[in-house]
Amino acid sequence: MLVLGIDSSTQSTKALVVDADSGEVVAEAKASHPDGTEVDPKAWWDAAQSAIGEAVARAPGRIEAVSVGGQQHGMVALDDQGEVVRDALLWNDTRSAPQADELTARHGAKELAARTGSVPVASFTITKLAWLAHNEPQHADRVAQVLLPHDWVSWQLAGRPERTWTDHGDASGTGYYSPTTGEWLPDLLTDAMAGRTPAVPEVLAPNARAGQAALPGIEGATIGVGTGDNMAAALGLGLKPGDVAVSLGTSGAVFAPAEQASADETGTVAGFCDATGRYLPLVCTLNAARVLTSTAQVLDTDLEGLSRLALSAEPGAGGLSLLPYLEGERTPNLPEATGTLTGLTGANMTPQNLARAAVEGMLCGMADAIEALRDTGAEVRRVLLIGGAARSEAVQGIAPSLFGVDVDVPDPAEYVALGAAKQAAWACSGAATPPEWEVAGTRRAVGDDTSGRAVRAAYSRARNQVHGI
Ligand code: XUL
Repeated sequence: MLVLGIDSSTQSTKALVVDADSGEVVAEAKASHPDGTEVDPKAWWDAAQSAIGEAVARAPGRIEAVSVGGQQHGMVALDDQGEVVRDALLWNDTRSAPQADELTARHGAKELAARTGSVPVASFTITKLAWLAHNEPQHADRVAQVLLPHDWVSWQLAGRPERTWTDHGDASGTGYYSPTTGEWLPDLLTDAMAGRTPAVPEVLAPNARAGQAALPGIEGATIGVGTGDNMAAALGLGLKPGDVAVSLGTSGAVFAPAEQASADETGTVAGFCDATGRYLPLVCTLNAARVLTSTAQVLDTDLEGLSRLALSAEPGAGGLSLLPYLEGERTPNLPEATGTLTGLTGANMTPQNLARAAVEGMLCGMADAIEALRDTGAEVRRVLLIGGAARSEAVQGIAPSLFGVDVDVPDPAEYVALGAAKQAAWACSGAATPPEWEVAGTRRAVGDDTSGRAVRAAYSRARNQVHGI
């Protein structure tokens, strides 16, 4: 049986045709999304149709089921005709930072963490709706329903039927959903939207058959419930207790499967649900792969060149520390921050040290995130390193000593789309648990390399000096 997994991410749509028995990818295709932190959702649908069309044309048979993993949190506001009211504001759009602060001040961090699992930052849907109500009331008045990116793409796939749906994982990133009761929290939604209460999608079970595809080429295929991209990646990797995934894409996301819901009132760890009926505490930074691509550009090289330079410098980059807040930052919560390079001297200002400081700075943010997960009770036996920047030899080589645990690097694959494909297969199988597909990779052992401790201490000192935290 063939299933189709879609990853509608910030930068592109990827479509994978997968053999449901073995998990083998038999065809794939990709189409780009426009840049920017606000996007017309139609661009996602154009990209999805193009990637699906290409992948399916290469597939050796009929597609039985399809599911969509999508970038979390994006605000897709629809009017009463189902048309988008304005461009979607994405997870990495920080304009709603004041609204995040106001919501937290009004309700209290403790209360919000207890009710929604998380203290909202500018990424969360609820803060975007509050921004809309405050800054574009004429648009807010027209909002009849709010969907998330994966909900909206799934709904297009189904031919825009009457019913809309979502899953626990993506719902838990809105800021108006309870991960523990599995219910929406309309009072928070209405409060954020200054008295308006738009409709929300129905929350379906992780292995639900949500609908049937109407798109030519896959017509009649079962549509799985879909989920957020991090939940889909966790499913694609088949994370087990003791595993922590560090995903180095546009965002840096660090997450671990959990049996118990978390409620971190400091706001560092978001208490999300996963795509199997359990939980997925997660720490997210806004600055990951782009820290490396931007530094490579400055050094007039590519990622491989950056990696070579970084590995030819000593740990600690000769005393340089890079606080890589190029896009502002979400964790720590510094939406207005910019990046800082500290410790420059005439002697250490070399391309090698700059490259090393970029890799170390990005990874120090991830190491702090792993600590924060540990603080919520997560067991950390190994780290799985995925995402575009995980392909860098320097990242793979430097990560174990900074994280203080062995690091497995799964073979490069589209784990979000693979997780979505697994969910589609699960919807068809009727089994109690998702299928298990093998994930191959290589191990980078931490051994007795303790250099990471001093690098992390220098990074913390720099952050403290510049931001007081
Ligand atoms: C997680 C988050 C990001 C996006 C990226 O909370 O905001 O990882 O899901 O697509």
